Amino acid sequence: MMKLNSSSKLNFPKHLAIIMDGNGRWAKKKHSTRSFGHRFGVEKFKSVAKYCGKIGIGHLSVFAFSTENWKRPPEEVKFIMGLFEEYLSKALSEFQGENFRVNFLGGKTLLSEKIRNLIARAERETKSCTGMVLNIAANYGSKDEITRAVKEIAKKVEAGQISIDQIDETLISQNLYTDGQPDVDLVIRTGEEKRISNFLLWQSAYAEYIFLDTLWPDFKLEFIDDAIREFSSRKRRFGGIAIDS
Ligand code: FPP
Repeated sequence: MMKLNSSSKLNFPKHLAIIMDGNGRWAKKKHSTRSFGHRFGVEKFKSVAKYCGKIGIGHLSVFAFSTENWKRPPEEVKFIMGLFEEYLSKALSEFQGENFRVNFLGGKTLLSEKIRNLIARAERETKSCTGMVLNIAANYGSKDEITRAVKEIAKKVEAGQISIDQIDETLISQNLYTDGQPDVDLVIRTGEEKRISNFLLWQSAYAEYIFLDTLWPDFKLEFIDDAIREFSSRKRRFGGIAIDS
């Protein structure tokens, strides 16, 4: 199935972010385990990423695991990490096949050595891919990311490499995990909740939001088409006024 592509007469988002919520509730409704929901969630993520690449989305960011998700029961955290490791160990050829350049958002120290190595390898071996940039947020939190950026910049000021006057929005953006990428212009969140949950706060300052009640495993590829149509029809003024006002 492929209905849209970037030559469709629509204004495509440059950077789409997706909060894939609702795996647990989906599984519960099916009288199954949360783990089953997460496994299904990964499969859904794979097909959505592939579709976004095909229709010409330039940058896709997905929230796989947040800095707050460590508060879940240890067995669930262990399962998700196992799933992440399993996914990463098989995904490299898929990334290359789809021409995805992968980039991981989040602090690496809390991740296992195996996962850290798989992340480093995926980033290294897809560096020259020219298709969609796929940002996978794992152990990611926006407040944590901004705190790290502030520390990095403060270190440079302390070392006398830059002056306080040189701190501007560009410098802050350059110290985030999305350095060099366009700001997020469309965020889709599934799973009924209508909140941002510490995802790409700086990058999505002017993003459009689409909240869907659908639980992530029930997400359909045509929802991407619908979201792009909706995005394309919204008037984005960035704090200014509409040209025709
Ligand atoms: C959201 O559902 C899922 C998570 C926070 C963690 C796991 C994410 C995936 C399995 C999909 C992506 C995976 C990869 C490898 C990129 P939830 O557990 O918050 O559901 P609930 O709100 O219904 O409990």
